Amino acid sequence: MTAKISIQHVQKSFRIQRNLGHLKEDSQPISALKDINLEVKKGEFMVIVGPSGCGKSTLLDLLAGLTKPSSGQILLDGKAITGPNLDRGIVFQQYALFPWKTTLANVEFGLEAKGVGRKERRKIALEFIHLVGLAGFENRYPHEISGGMKQRVAIARSLAYDPEVLLMDEPFAALDAQTRETLQSELLRIWEATKKTIIFITHGIEEAVYLGQRVAVMTSRPGRIKKVIDIPFESRRSEEDLRSHPDFVKLRHEVWDLLKDEVTRAQQQEIAKSLDGFEHNKSALKGGVSNG
Ligand SMILES: Nc1ncnc2c1ncn2[C@@H]1O[C@H](COP(=O)(O)OP(=O)(O)OP(=O)(O)O)[C@@H](O)[C@H]1O
Ligand SMILES: [Mg+2]
Repeated sequence: MTAKISIQHVQKSFRIQRNLGHLKEDSQPISALKDINLEVKKGEFMVIVGPSGCGKSTLLDLLAGLTKPSSGQILLDGKAITGPNLDRGIVFQQYALFPWKTTLANVEFGLEAKGVGRKERRKIALEFIHLVGLAGFENRYPHEISGGMKQRVAIARSLAYDPEVLLMDEPFAALDAQTRETLQSELLRIWEATKKTIIFITHGIEEAVYLGQRVAVMTSRPGRIKKVIDIPFESRRSEEDLRSHPDFVKLRHEVWDLLKDEVTRAQQQEIAKSLDGFEHNKSALKGGVSNG
């Protein structure tokens, strides 16, 4: 069977310009992703876990078609992704809702873009608002609902226009632990009901093992896939039992083992980067003083 999504030798680097007042210079290009290879099957729940700054959002943007790889390619149903499309729904970490639209109008938005008529639009939107447990909140504005509810709206909006693939970039990271756990099991329920292919990004190990059928562990920057781990649970809906199950604990430990060196390396990179910035600012300041 051919893969739903095939990521082939994908690299991504960024060129950034330092702007220090009078001084402008091109830095060395930053290599964010290096030779990423991953196949995702139709209907699969794939989780990608990696340390902060390893290139997870960069990879998701590439999958969404918001940016292009520096080399390599990503195929969807065998065809290269060339830009954003309604065949892929995205849920970001920050609530990307229209603040001036109600829940209903936010969910209807993608359907409008797809050219669905007004009556049908309303019917579908209400269906998905119901699915994510927001019945009764149709006419509320984003500022009138909680963070967890906003993410439910974002999920409903992405699902309503019936994308084949749902791309999720740390969608629950900003939520409190309880809401996060509720939404995790909600998402599993929705996944089972809709049979979407899901690529879910997180830096939470527990979240990764709980949600994923497979978990791809990334290295620190430049991000590569270090290992893909199978999570062979039949059903994960009763999470209280699952999280304390010996197999769950073992898998969580396995992921942590793969990740811990990468996290340390990522932290060292962060420190080196800020020291580098500090040195640059210092020399720019010196230059400024002697020139002036
Ligand atoms: N548009 C850009 N221009 C320059 N550098 C960028 C750009 N986007 C990302 N980067 C760099 O690429 C690297 C990877 O960033 P990315 O946001 O993909 O990491 P991440 O894994 O999503 O991190 P986090 O867990 O903190 O969300 C970082 O070093 C970041 O500074
Ligand atoms: Mg990110």
